[in-house]
Amino acid sequence: MVTSREIRLKNRPVGMPTADDFELATVELPTPVEGQVQVRNIWMSVDPYMRGRMNDAPNYVPPFALGVAMQGDAIGEVVQSNDQSLKPGDLVQSMNGWREAFNAPANKVRKLDTHGLPPEAFLGVAGIPGFTAYVGLLHIADLREGDVVFVSGAAGAVGSMACQIAKLKGHRVIASAGGVEKTAFAKDELGVDETIDYKSVPDLTAALAMAAPDGIDVYFDNVGGEHLDAALANAKTFGRFALCGMISDYNAASQPMGVRNLLMAVTRSLRLQGFVILNYVNLQSAFAKDLAAWHAVGKIKWRQTVFHGVEQAPHAFLGLFSGENIGKMLVKLS
Ligand SMILES: NC(=O)c1ccc[n+]([C@@H]2O[C@H](COP(=O)([O-])OP(=O)(O)OC[C@H]3O[C@@H](n4cnc5c(N)ncnc54)[C@H](OP(=O)(O)O)[C@@H]3O)[C@@H](O)[C@H]2O)c1
Repeated sequence: MVTSREIRLKNRPVGMPTADDFELATVELPTPVEGQVQVRNIWMSVDPYMRGRMNDAPNYVPPFALGVAMQGDAIGEVVQSNDQSLKPGDLVQSMNGWREAFNAPANKVRKLDTHGLPPEAFLGVAGIPGFTAYVGLLHIADLREGDVVFVSGAAGAVGSMACQIAKLKGHRVIASAGGVEKTAFAKDELGVDETIDYKSVPDLTAALAMAAPDGIDVYFDNVGGEHLDAALANAKTFGRFALCGMISDYNAASQPMGVRNLLMAVTRSLRLQGFVILNYVNLQSAFAKDLAAWHAVGKIKWRQTVFHGVEQAPHAFLGLFSGENIGKMLVKLS
């Protein structure tokens, strides 16, 4: 028997979750039966969308059940195999995060070819966050020559990639993030043209107007709320908004107030389009090809913020909402 520690959701939080909403449990794993593999996780991802899964409400992914291990993107190593398709030492990606180890049918994990990248990049820049930035900018916002691009949550996993793709395509980019360290990262490492430390400006709409005196063509929205209002107020006619996420609303204990400047969508002929990345898997190979080409010429940079040990996973998750991460928030498990 092998033991594995795992994190379970104990309560459905109302408003901002706390450490008390999670519990740490230990389970024993038997030898994998025929067709199964045993995997020891090395890395797991914590992601803002998981907050929605803590509510017992309809969503595009089902709610987490109480009292069982939570799920999420993870990368691990096969330690025992009872299936021909995988052997010990193979790296695999699965949705069995929030635990140290697990048994699963071999066809429920995906063998990972890292193409020379560190494995954890497939939870960030080369994984869902990077792919989300790619789809949102190039296909949802339909980036066009000369566009001025505004990105919120710019120092995070999705936002940092959105900034870089827009710069690679030759655009003027304005990046909003919370705090001096994050805006310096956006400017110095991601190469954006202007930054806004939204936590220190008295008026976000005025700050954006100063950074983009002629207005913005594209808004990549990771945040919603006040950022979306500021972008609407500063949009040029025929502006295009990729609504990727609205993290400022995820912990609202009651219905969020709503968007104040939505009338601009009418008067300026704007297009606002939301998207969920799971609906765009057909673009995955194009993303992999472009990313490989950009990476080969040293054009993609990434950072990660790492917590250690499964017992730290709730803290890492909560840190997404207080902005503790620069780049991708990860938990190293072994
Ligand atoms: N549509 C899709 O398919 C899809 C896929 C993946 C992710 N997403 C969305 O993309 C967004 C970014 O996700 P990520 O994984 O890259 O996370 P992330 O940006 O790496 O981490 C979250 C960041 O959000 C910022 N934040 C937290 N609360 C905020 C608030 N009230 N107002 C403004 N900023 C706040 C914090 O940065 P600061 O310190 O700068 O505040 C924090 O570091 C999220 O909205 C997520 O739900 C959507």
